[in-house]
Amino acid sequence: MIILGINAYHGDAAAAIVRDGELIAAAEEERFNRIKHCAGFPTEAVRYCLREAGVGIEDVDHVGISRDPSAHLHKKVLFAARRVVGRRQKAEGRRQQAVGSKQYELATLLTEEADETSAFPAKGSATNNGTTPFQDGSFAVHGNGNGKGLFSQIRNRLANAAKVRDLPEELSRALGISREKLRARFHNVEHHHAHLASSFFVSPFRQAALLSIDGFGDFISTMWAVGEGNSIKILGQVEYPHSTGIVYTATTQFLGFPHYGDEGKVMGLAPYGQPRYIEEFRDIIRTEPHGQFRLNLDYFRHHAEGVDMTWDNGSPVIGRIFSEQYAHVFGPPRAQGAALTDRDRDIAASLQLRLEEVGFHILNHLHEQTGLTDLGLSGGVAYNSVMNGKILLHTPFRRVYVQPAAGDSGTAIGACYQIWNQFRVPSSEFRVEELSSPKDTENRLQSAIIHPLPLGEGWGEGLSSSSFAPSPNPSQREANHAQRSSRQTESELGTRNPKLEASGSELETRNSKLETSYVMEGAYTGPEFSDEEIRNELRLSNLSFETYSDEEVTRYAARDIADGFVVGWFQGRMEFGPRALGNRSIVVDPRRADMKEILNERIKKREPFRPFAPSILEEHVGDYFEQTHPAPTMLMVYQIKPERRAEIPAVTHVDGSGRLQTVTREVNPRYYQLIEDFYKLTGVPAVLNTSFNENEPIVCTPRDAIECFLKTKMDVLYLGNHCVRRRSFEF
Ligand SMILES: [Fe+2]
Repeated sequence: MIILGINAYHGDAAAAIVRDGELIAAAEEERFNRIKHCAGFPTEAVRYCLREAGVGIEDVDHVGISRDPSAHLHKKVLFAARRVVGRRQKAEGRRQQAVGSKQYELATLLTEEADETSAFPAKGSATNNGTTPFQDGSFAVHGNGNGKGLFSQIRNRLANAAKVRDLPEELSRALGISREKLRARFHNVEHHHAHLASSFFVSPFRQAALLSIDGFGDFISTMWAVGEGNSIKILGQVEYPHSTGIVYTATTQFLGFPHYGDEGKVMGLAPYGQPRYIEEFRDIIRTEPHGQFRLNLDYFRHHAEGVDMTWDNGSPVIGRIFSEQYAHVFGPPRAQGAALTDRDRDIAASLQLRLEEVGFHILNHLHEQTGLTDLGLSGGVAYNSVMNGKILLHTPFRRVYVQPAAGDSGTAIGACYQIWNQFRVPSSEFRVEELSSPKDTENRLQSAIIHPLPLGEGWGEGLSSSSFAPSPNPSQREANHAQRSSRQTESELGTRNPKLEASGSELETRNSKLETSYVMEGAYTGPEFSDEEIRNELRLSNLSFETYSDEEVTRYAARDIADGFVVGWFQGRMEFGPRALGNRSIVVDPRRADMKEILNERIKKREPFRPFAPSILEEHVGDYFEQTHPAPTMLMVYQIKPERRAEIPAVTHVDGSGRLQTVTREVNPRYYQLIEDFYKLTGVPAVLNTSFNENEPIVCTPRDAIECFLKTKMDVLYLGNHCVRRRSFEF
């Protein structure tokens, strides 16, 4: 069975392809069209996925998109009706009109931003594409409640929803084929179902608590669940307009960072401040029983006036979300580019602390509901690696799997696995049921959930009415396992368990995933290029290069890093998700305190307060960090041991933390060898790893890498086994 998953008309458009339960490929559109966070239809990503799988679109059995405009429709209707009435009551001299038969459409249209905003979408800053909502450091207010803005929003959202609804048409148009050529079945997968599926079905867990924490998607901001085998049961959710992600985005805007994806900058700024506004943020996000929270809506515009959003074939643009109440409480917004003040730093620190408090509030409730200690995490807010790194300290969870593409691009994977787990069993067993209210959820759980949840047989019995995937089918699971086993040797399978053992108390489920299916241990699902392709590009660029053996290439690169050179490291398959994990990376010496400035001056041009991150051999994590839980996709921040901080100053943030990538030979043998060779030379088992780009999407092809190398002041470029040295053509 071949399944194509798509995230489209949303930030970080992406595609993924799954064959018989195995993820064959996944990639973001931005890597191909070079538009950061590109939000249109992932035409090139779809083409790549089909190419990688060696199939045509006519061979695809199912296509899923991670949006469902019809999801939670009754809630949208209610919300939109109230909003329409509210608007009209405020409009002086305007005639009241009944919502009437158009209520259904209006509901969908007026709440469409609830389907689209995915706060904390990814790291880094989006490229300014000239359509920023800021003007001279202040916001131009779009869609501010007058008739013109409202109708403009309606028009845009109608177009967006129509595209989502007519996926076959969009896909055939993108691929330049007639619609008749498509034999696949098409599916709308609710946004958070796709997030949850992405964090469980490719995780190492057979059973886990799951949290998707996000801006908004299909009217929901936060959803939690429990996964078992090939079934996921929804346990709770927080609905529009309440969202932790929206608070983070609004505050990021208020602090003068306007672009999609700038939330990571505020996370990096937070350790410079003191959380002296924590009470204000506790008023902005108020926790409630049963893992719930609500926003003080006085601070926001999205629920009342609507916010302009652009999700066309470019970087996403989101209008001003915060209301004037922010200025009443905190003073005027910081203008973009203005000097940062203590107030700005303290706001960032307070926001970050409140996010963590609310996140742990939800997670502790999720643990109480399930009794489980394994957690799958997804959603845009799951890119908040500082919060992630504290989960083991502030909740009972013992193992955390953060989906490498936890944000919206990863929903392409989730859509695939949602469909795979639906159609590998008889359709009669498959049901989807929405929760009507938190109270209803609790009541249902009282009768359906046994604490702790039982392992093994019988999981699905009695629970299928509120599961969105069916109960496990043992024979199919065995078949799947047999298929997986046939692709791997015993030794390969054996290498997975020690990694799980590294987490100490987490042994109880160490063998669990071996009974299920594909495990996404790294994020290396993108294009790779042959030596011949790389050589051709180098020759086309008239660059002289040397070619090394496998053993030489890591040894020479390690020597270059230790000698203080800025090294471009382009190897194997491109990463999926926001992090470069040693295949599209720039690597330098973490021991040199000046490396941060050198990188910023010569290549990255980032704000000086933003930290750089280490990649460290997994077996040495405990020597340098206070926590040792694996962080293979650089989505955890831990404290570096005080006595080690001076040893690796370039990757030690102002508060002594580091956003580490733990590297194993099994997941990335060449990158592991590079760091090990550096360790042999220097005694330090870590390097500084930053993404291979210069204010653009991470490089995809050898051509992208060469262009980035030529326009920056990188010293050495390793492309596979080939090496180009700047001095060879500049001196
Ligand atoms: Fe999302």
